[in-house]
Amino acid sequence: MSKQFDVIVIGGGPGGYIGAIRAAQLGFNVACIDEWANDKGGPAPGGTCTNVGCIPSKALLQSSEHFEHAGHHFADHGIGLSNLSIDVAKMVGRKNTVVKQNNDGILYLFKKNKVSFFHGRGAFVKAADGLYQISVTGAANESLTGKHVIVATGSSARALPGAAFDEDRILSNDGALRIPAVPKTLGVIGSGVIGLEMGSVWRRLGSEVTVLEALPNFLGAADEGVAKEALKAFTKQGLKFQFGVKITEVKTTKKGVTVAYTDAKGAEATLQVERLIVSIGRVPNTTGLNPDAVGLKLDERGAIVVDGDCRTNLPNVWAVGDVVRGPMLAHKAEEEGVAVAERIAGQHGHVNFNTIPWVIYTSPEIAWVGRTEQQLKADGVAYKAGQFPFLANGRARALGDTTGFVKFLADAKTDQILGVHIVGPMASELIAEAVVAMEFKASAEDIARICHAHPSLSEATKEAALAVDKRTLNF
Ligand code: FAD
Ligand code: NAI
Repeated sequence: MSKQFDVIVIGGGPGGYIGAIRAAQLGFNVACIDEWANDKGGPAPGGTCTNVGCIPSKALLQSSEHFEHAGHHFADHGIGLSNLSIDVAKMVGRKNTVVKQNNDGILYLFKKNKVSFFHGRGAFVKAADGLYQISVTGAANESLTGKHVIVATGSSARALPGAAFDEDRILSNDGALRIPAVPKTLGVIGSGVIGLEMGSVWRRLGSEVTVLEALPNFLGAADEGVAKEALKAFTKQGLKFQFGVKITEVKTTKKGVTVAYTDAKGAEATLQVERLIVSIGRVPNTTGLNPDAVGLKLDERGAIVVDGDCRTNLPNVWAVGDVVRGPMLAHKAEEEGVAVAERIAGQHGHVNFNTIPWVIYTSPEIAWVGRTEQQLKADGVAYKAGQFPFLANGRARALGDTTGFVKFLADAKTDQILGVHIVGPMASELIAEAVVAMEFKASAEDIARICHAHPSLSEATKEAALAVDKRTLNF
């Protein structure tokens, strides 16, 4: 006997679990199916983000930053330490506890909101009479029928051809988050977000980290000024970068991994490392979903084809998050999940792609919203720029962290904010003000006239807004 639901969500990551909760809030009878299992085989909802992404990476970034501070910066405060050591098993154990707290939190939220959770793999079986039949196999074996289906099956790490992940020597984000001991040498393929965050974790703990990047330049999506400042800081910290490389072969040996490549000048080279993280982007998850059973359309990358409102080619079938176009970010997936639930309810859910913030949780942190200076130039937009360094901010000096700056880009005529780019301490938190400002179509002067607490890092935001009109007060 098939269980009936108004809305069936396949995938319990940020897109799926948040969409399921919002649909339940709106009065629908909702099921959420997720197959992620913890090490005991139990349910572990939250997807990539909770299990092997956002949350565990931030836990390790925090631990490794404490270690770096204790080793290199406490002395500046007059705090002496001897015999500093790192217990990697304990650090990873703490990270696992943080993950479990989040898994359990989601299971609690499902109960609270009366979302029926099914632990297993969800697959399309057929469509008939305006209803979709979905099978659940795995820990739970069930047949579900629903009027609406939201697919939120996420993404997985892309492997280099001929170098499958073994999670021992050749690591995806999963293995990179549970290396058992600090490797003496660590290679990273790809200088994107994962490469920088995970490279930073292990570099702080003592690894010699070399990053090989295919493109000739660093962080092409970020504002050029920010990318330049960040590269300078990372290089000073000891991360080694090579750009414009072409990987030709990856071989594992008993001792580690050998990467053969040609460098930017076309010369052949090899990198010998204990372990290798491959972080060259991610691929959408649709295997196991059986999309052909109902004729769900995929594109050439395997992503589900959707319109601007997350509608697929099938009536009442929606798709959100990493499995569709757009940035692979947890908050983007969540916004789409909420918007779809609201559209199902006949409301006007909306996601503003122009104000989705980007954050890279390195040190210095990098965060931005809106367009970069190079994009504005390419689009022929007349703009004014204002920049303020953390070096001139009292709170940053007190923190002992004065790297970087806040940069505002505003329309030359109207002064409307077009982009805000931050590299420096707590950029991840500071960017929220810029997102609000851009959502409300604020001008740089609006921010410049708002009272900001003193002493706070947010004063750098105000000063950068003042700098647009060339009237900073503290620089
Ligand atoms: P996912 O989180 O991938 O969830 C999909 C879920 O569906 C998974 O549980 C999967 O097992 C399940 N599933 C798949 N197929 C089926 C099926 N057929 N049946 C049942 N279940 C199925 N983003 C940020 O915004 N901030 C960050 O700091 C950040 N850090 C990251 C760090 C790392 C190392 C990585 C890898 C990613 C990070 N991301 C971050 C990206 C973020 O994790 C993703 O954008 C986000 O998880 C996408 O959410 P989703 O719901 O679309 O998919
Ligand atoms: P990415 O897209 O950020 O970076 C991949 C990098 O690898 C690029 O610079 C690319 O040019 C390079 N590359 C591709 N093929 C290569 C090859 N053959 N050889 C050498 N270099 C190659 O992808 P990444 O780091 O895997 O992360 C995937 C996604 O996960 C991110 O795009 C982001 O959406 C999400 N994420 C978000 C985080 C955050 O918000 N803080 C943290 C981590 C991941």
